[in-house]
Amino acid sequence: VFISEISGFRVLETQLQEKLNIEQAIVVRGNSDNLDLVKQEIGKAAAAYLRSRQANGQTIAVTGGTTMAAVASVMTPFENAGSCLFVPARGGIGEKVESQANTIVAEMAKRTNGDYRMLYVPDPLSEQSYQTMLKEPSIQEVTELIRSADIILHGIGDALTMANRRKSSEKLIDHLKEQHAVSEAFGYYFNSKGDVVHKVRTIGIQLEDLKSVNKVVAIAGGKSKAQAITSYFNQGKADLLITDEAAAKAIIHE
Ligand code: F6P
Repeated sequence: VFISEISGFRVLETQLQEKLNIEQAIVVRGNSDNLDLVKQEIGKAAAAYLRSRQANGQTIAVTGGTTMAAVASVMTPFENAGSCLFVPARGGIGEKVESQANTIVAEMAKRTNGDYRMLYVPDPLSEQSYQTMLKEPSIQEVTELIRSADIILHGIGDALTMANRRKSSEKLIDHLKEQHAVSEAFGYYFNSKGDVVHKVRTIGIQLEDLKSVNKVVAIAGGKSKAQAITSYFNQGKADLLITDEAAAKAIIHE
């Protein structure tokens, strides 16, 4: 039974890679919409991936969210531990403390005996303070680290779910509806074709920076995120997707 299940996921992974046109997909059992444990399984797969990449000595930029918090919660020390540097990919974007990138990088560093940096930016940020903060040396230091990261781990969410979770203004929510926003990742909202329809103004990784990052790893599961994941990958932004069976099956059958 076990072997056929493994090969079953291999088939699913290959189908997913073809459907989303990505280098690699990793699928774990279950549906994270129904069971938090599945997020932890996704997390274990992510941690195993980092270990297999011998991520030691590398800089890893990380976004927030409950999936990423679960990833952090199951991490264990890498071999030759000590030298991985975790940085938040973007400034606070309306998450609760436990799901904020700052909290998550601290946890990842603690669990892997690595190091971390914080990004202290208020949320939301006015245009004026944004421009001022960009000039702050301490902020510049962290944004440089983010831009030169070796690996980015980021979540993907359903656009309206995220806009509501961030208590966005009615005006923004109407705009997202008008623009048929489907997905959200690191503060960018995308329509079904994967075009950007809105961007949260904050410091950190920008879409164009992804090109220079060696490995971009998207981590998102749950059947409810199937359309969001498909939309995000329509313009092929990440190299690897770590997801669950329910999302994978829904994406393939869309
Ligand atoms: O707010 C940070 C973030 O990574 C978003 O970019 C993404 O849409 C969301 O969190 C995913 O959160 P969750 O894993 O809780 O669905």
